[in-house]
Amino acid sequence: MNEDFVDTIFNNAITGTALIKDRRTLTIDYVPQKLPFRDKESTSIAQTLSVAFKHGRPSNLLIFGKPGTGKTAVIKNVVDRLINKAKELNIHIMVPIVNGKSANTSYKVLYEIAEAMGINQEQKKLQVHFTGLSMGEATDRILDYIKLKNLKVILVIDEIDSLIDRNGDDILYNFTRANERISSDQFISLIGISNSLTFKDKLDPRVRSSLSEEELVFNPYTIEQLKQILIDRCKLAFHNDTVPLGTINLCAAMAGKETGDARKAIDLLRVAAEIAERKGINTVQESYVRVAQEKIDRDTNYEILKNSTTHTKIVILSLISANSGDSNTGQIYDIYVNLCSHLEQEPLTQRRITQIISELDQLGIVTTSIVNLGRYGRTQKIRLTIPTSSIKDAFKHDIILKSLLQELNW
Ligand SMILES: Nc1ncnc2c1ncn2[C@@H]1O[C@H](COP(=O)(O)OP(=O)(O)OP(=O)(O)O)[C@@H](O)[C@H]1O
Ligand SMILES: [Mg+2]
Repeated sequence: MNEDFVDTIFNNAITGTALIKDRRTLTIDYVPQKLPFRDKESTSIAQTLSVAFKHGRPSNLLIFGKPGTGKTAVIKNVVDRLINKAKELNIHIMVPIVNGKSANTSYKVLYEIAEAMGINQEQKKLQVHFTGLSMGEATDRILDYIKLKNLKVILVIDEIDSLIDRNGDDILYNFTRANERISSDQFISLIGISNSLTFKDKLDPRVRSSLSEEELVFNPYTIEQLKQILIDRCKLAFHNDTVPLGTINLCAAMAGKETGDARKAIDLLRVAAEIAERKGINTVQESYVRVAQEKIDRDTNYEILKNSTTHTKIVILSLISANSGDSNTGQIYDIYVNLCSHLEQEPLTQRRITQIISELDQLGIVTTSIVNLGRYGRTQKIRLTIPTSSIKDAFKHDIILKSLLQELNW
């Protein structure tokens, strides 16, 4: 590579390009001050939480809504304002926010609550260590701390559905019952945020009724709303006149058509801007949005494939081996069993493999269609939708598949 060219890249990075003004405003964690189209939701949450200023316990609250509908952003925004107001009034309210997906286990959630409340730094005796305590003991320590410090706590568990899916709802049971164990001027209220609308069905009826004292649904954004959100974000992120309206419209239309997801709309814009930057061009052209969409799809597929379970990967390899592009479940299952024996893996049942195929269908990695065979009945045809080269890329470091991949010359 030409050295001048390398220098130009570094120099551009140091001096900043003429395109992006504030990169931070395009990151996933960024929460803007203004959240248009969410006044009703913000008001409703603020009203629920305002009880904390009237010497009462705010009701527990469950928030539902599809991905990218602003749940996390709105909660963070309202919580920030609540904390500021509480400081002003010298009222001590704590609002630990934990994420059920990244915490992964119920114990890790307790650990993160203790960290967020400052228990671990402040009270040696009540420390919730990274590992080693029972769930009961860890919960007791958190409650003892609340009693000791006479605290009002609003506990926010974001992405609560993935926590419950993996670990059951014991942790919620303990917290929804906790108020019976502390005195009246202390409390712990719970806000659960879920992007699965059927999340509540998975809860024990006792937990369900106390957790959903109040409920709030966030609806997907319309294309028009996404457009306005993008216009606002462009003002923060880009220099004037670098993002044409056509580009904004296209991002809004592409994200709005599928899911009404603001994250998706902002991602499209960010990746399109990165493409422009890399080309050294000072406008985010409309055509870059389509390239961005392809790149995002590729990256998402790569992550999904790479992190799949071994058996899902074997199913995908079976689909490739079937090679006809149009195989039915029975044929795939036979190949799958064969590959399993080759890899010395115990095969799963055909029923489970059918489930895995329908999960892959939902993720858009395969398409399935029912074909009518006249008097021979009906059969399901399955077809991979992504190129073999992407699959190769995602599987190439898998140790269990190694011998098979070598045989396939991958
Ligand atoms: N009304 C809005 N105005 C401006 N930006 C918004 C608005 N709603 C969402 N966003 C932005 O869209 C992105 C996604 O929002 P957020 O993370 O709150 O979605 P979510 O509903 O929590 O999604 P998930 O269920 O996937 O966690 C964030 O970058 C956020 O800043
Ligand atoms: Mg969220």
